[in-house]
Amino acid sequence: MTPAIGQQTATEATTPEAAVVKICASCHGMELVTDTPRDYDAWHDTVQKMIDRGARGTQEEFGLVMDYLFQNMTPVDINHSDVDMLMGVLHADEKTAQAIIARRTLRPFKDLAELEGSIQGLDKAVLDAKKRMIYFQ
Ligand code: HEC
Repeated sequence: MTPAIGQQTATEATTPEAAVVKICASCHGMELVTDTPRDYDAWHDTVQKMIDRGARGTQEEFGLVMDYLFQNMTPVDINHSDVDMLMGVLHADEKTAQAIIARRTLRPFKDLAELEGSIQGLDKAVLDAKKRMIYFQ
């Protein structure tokens, strides 16, 4: 994606949360963004559509928006997603993501309870917050 580059302002957002609130909640509420998890490519297309509609920010801010969407609004399939996806979506380190892959290769995970019970190092608050985006297919 090559986002349109807007004018630099004194209040440039510097965190993913600040960027998404600044850029994505100016025309409609944040709930439009937080109601519809979708995969990373689909978020690219959505953000491009919003830029076409007039969303403006710096390239850095759009980078932060994509970070936010990847870390918070992207579904993950625990039994099939790759290591980067597991790390990004579960906010996990590489060792933890690799442990998930090693375990699912032997036997796929059934549900969140089994994931939490068998893998060390996952952040329970993240898992709780993202329950509806974590799949076991
Ligand atoms: C210039 C105004 C504007 C800005 C800024 C804007 N949007 Fe939108 N957005 C709209 C309009 C208008 C609609 C309703 C039309 C539609 O459904 O596509 C919409 C609808 C949506 C939808 C629901 C429709 C769909 O495609 O699923 C999502 C999700 C969304 N916006 C996400 C975002 C995100 C993420 C950002 C920040 C990058 C953003 N919007 C910034 C104008 C804007």
